[in-house]
Amino acid sequence: MNIQFKIDVSSGLTKSPKTLPSKYFYDEIGDKLFVKIMNLPEYYLTRAEYEIFDTKSEDIIRKLKINPSDTIDLIELGAGDGKKTKTFLKVLLEKKYNFKYVPIDISIHALKALETSCKMEFSNLDIEIKQGEYFGVLEDVKTNKSQKIIMFLGSNLGNLEDEAAQDFLTKLSNALQVGDKIILGLDCIKPEEIVLPAYNDSQGVTKAFNLNLLHRINKELHADFDVSNFDHVPEYDEKTGIAKSFLVSKKEQKVSFNRDQTYYKFSKGEKIQTETSRKYNDRILQTLLRNTNLVQISKISDSNNYFNSYILERV
Ligand code: AVI
Repeated sequence: MNIQFKIDVSSGLTKSPKTLPSKYFYDEIGDKLFVKIMNLPEYYLTRAEYEIFDTKSEDIIRKLKINPSDTIDLIELGAGDGKKTKTFLKVLLEKKYNFKYVPIDISIHALKALETSCKMEFSNLDIEIKQGEYFGVLEDVKTNKSQKIIMFLGSNLGNLEDEAAQDFLTKLSNALQVGDKIILGLDCIKPEEIVLPAYNDSQGVTKAFNLNLLHRINKELHADFDVSNFDHVPEYDEKTGIAKSFLVSKKEQKVSFNRDQTYYKFSKGEKIQTETSRKYNDRILQTLLRNTNLVQISKISDSNNYFNSYILERV
């Protein structure tokens, strides 16, 4: 049993209001559901960021101020399916940049799949997969002399509360050397009519993704959640740009964790917050960067201005 998972679940369910960490969405089923989410008509984020790489990769390269003679480590935090990154790799290869692609992920399975597909598509790509926690791996690669370009896409930063995002950026900045760059993909603050359906799609895939967390707890922590007794409820505040997802108890109920004889009570309508998906503007990003050695040097947007690829430099 994953002891940390157990500790995080019991501490989240003891809090008031109750919470569960979104990082536990991503088991094998959750990974597959997230791939489906990325292809949903309502989930504009992936399409918007893909459009940026598809139509503006050359612009990104110019803004990164790199030369074909530089030796570059292109390090991606999180492997994903690589669709967006591959469009960028293609342009770098065509323009004969001297780079190594280093995707980092906790899942060796995801990394191997990415490596296989990259090797099939680009016979001349230098790729080195690295399994582990982002910052552990970054420490390891810090010592080599290559210039680093970090890619952190998909508005993944938005799944961290602002304070945690600030810590993350500070740690990232400390892992880099002066002149290194970051391509940071962030979803923009936009009207509720666009954001809410992205987290409440008509096919119910996001609902299944959220509820899968309870299935996972049942399976791995021997709990007896009756998943049909919970609803998926997203909320979004246009003023702050913060979207949140909840699981809401449809009735008064008790859930037991048999192995350790504990149980948790839920009242009718009680919410468990399972995710934060923050949306950004330039000002919010500036606030997050305030105590770091990172500065924004450019911003590239998609044609709808839904999503931004920020270029940051370590100074
Ligand atoms: C991975 N992350 C940026 C997604 C998001 O938009 O917050 C996860 C997700 N949750 C529900 N739909 C997608």
